[in-house]
Amino acid sequence: MTGSLLFCCPGSPVAVEPEFSALTRLKRRGAEMGLTALLASRLERQPVAYLPKYQYIRANINRAMTELEAIKARHSVRKYTDKPIEADKVAAIRLAIESINAQSGLNIQLVLEEPNAFSSGMWKYGQFSGVRNYFVMAGPKGKEAEEKIGYYGEKLVLLAQTLGLNTCWVGLTYKKILGTFTLRDGDSVHCVIALGYGTSPGIQHPQKPVENFYEAAGTVPQWFKDGMEAALLAPTAINQQKFKFILHEGNKVETKTHFSMAGYTNIDLGIVKYHFEVAAGKENFTWM
Ligand SMILES: Cc1cc2nc3c(=O)[nH]c(=O)nc-3n(C[C@H](O)[C@H](O)[C@H](O)COP(=O)(O)O)c2cc1C
Repeated sequence: MTGSLLFCCPGSPVAVEPEFSALTRLKRRGAEMGLTALLASRLERQPVAYLPKYQYIRANINRAMTELEAIKARHSVRKYTDKPIEADKVAAIRLAIESINAQSGLNIQLVLEEPNAFSSGMWKYGQFSGVRNYFVMAGPKGKEAEEKIGYYGEKLVLLAQTLGLNTCWVGLTYKKILGTFTLRDGDSVHCVIALGYGTSPGIQHPQKPVENFYEAAGTVPQWFKDGMEAALLAPTAINQQKFKFILHEGNKVETKTHFSMAGYTNIDLGIVKYHFEVAAGKENFTWM
């Protein structure tokens, strides 16, 4: 936890960081959460009384884990405890969804305390148990939207991980529960992402040699290696990893997908590209 943790009890004084201006602080906190300074400032202004048990929302903005650490800590988790997600974490996630939908044109929604998508009547879906919270990953159809679903969905997955929550992308083994989400004309539900407190942190998926996943002429820069390492840690449907990165002159990076009978390669690519960006640093390259 950073030294700037504020407070989580009613009536406690707010410890401010004297070394930072208000704007610098908001930009820094906003960047940590993948939010703009404006949205971070909205979090700052949440009244303490708004939150049950008076847990102050800034406790989460100053969370300990970075996105890169979250990439390394994240694994798919399919079994969840019945511990509810705290209101302050829900508020932070909802703000992130609002920001993502506004910039992407997607229609991502958070469904809470709804057990039927993963356990309906006599049917149990997949190896899941205890799932009652999930993101509905809705948006327009087509390749471009699918890649955005992956890219922005993984941003939410990593936010959840930094908040101490677990997740699992789910393309097949769930049921759509009508009335729990809304669709606009032309939208479809691409998949869902289970969310909550896992009974375990999950396990690392098997790793293949990184050289299988890229082409590069000449010396490979460290930022590209870092990006590839994070890309290989990304979740992909049935761990298919049907992607390739190509490093071109002028630090231009191209990506390709390979055919898969299982599908989901465009969503996978969006996920993988988000991991690559976090680890490589957006300032070091441009996408082709
Ligand atoms: C688009 C997508 C769809 C997925 N669908 C399912 C699913 O239907 N059921 C399931 O149990 N896991 C599903 N997964 C999780 C993958 O099996 C998992 O990410 C992969 O095995 C790698 O493991 P890891 O996430 O622990 O690194 C899906 C993952 C992605 C990215």
